[in-house]
Amino acid sequence: MIKQFILEGTKRNGYYFFGNIGVGKTTLITGIARILTAFLTSPMQYMPMPKLLKLLTSIEREDKDKIERFERLPLLVVDDFGLERFTTDNQEALARDFFSYRYGNLHTTFICGNADVRKFQTKNMFYRQISDYLNDAEAYKVFEIKGQSRRK
Ligand SMILES: Nc1ncnc2c1ncn2[C@@H]1O[C@H](COP(=O)(O)OP(=O)(O)OP(=O)(O)O)[C@@H](O)[C@H]1O
Ligand SMILES: [Mg+2]
Repeated sequence: MIKQFILEGTKRNGYYFFGNIGVGKTTLITGIARILTAFLTSPMQYMPMPKLLKLLTSIEREDKDKIERFERLPLLVVDDFGLERFTTDNQEALARDFFSYRYGNLHTTFICGNADVRKFQTKNMFYRQISDYLNDAEAYKVFEIKGQSRRK
């Protein structure tokens, strides 16, 4: 499985991993991303989705610069997907723009969450956009990580 990830990991838009709390999603996805870093022009970056959303809505100049850098990273790991809370339509729009830029430019984004976003019952346009990406088999592969919590 790891070999397959290395062969095709950066040729597609990414992977979406979901599974229960503590099954080892973060450990697995960051491990794969670190291996792939060796094949990239710049190191992979790790960012939890709640933190990314805060960054996207920031008006600070340095944060804007950071967003532009993050938009262009060859490999970004977005963790804890679904834990973010949208309070305005503008936040949804900013998140849509960020992910659509990465998607359109084939910048690989690994996404990791507790649940399958395609099953979210929501009017949220951002989640619908991500669901569309995941339903495109050429773009994304979706994995459910099953098992018991390894948290002690
Ligand atoms: N294959 C493994 N064998 C043993 N321990 C593991 C394994 N994978 C992860 N762990 C440990 O289990 C704990 C939970 O792992 P991790 O944070 O990767 O899970 P998670 O699915 O991302 O959890 P959460 O849903 O809370 O984000 C960590 O302490 C980690 O070190
Ligand atoms: Mg985790």
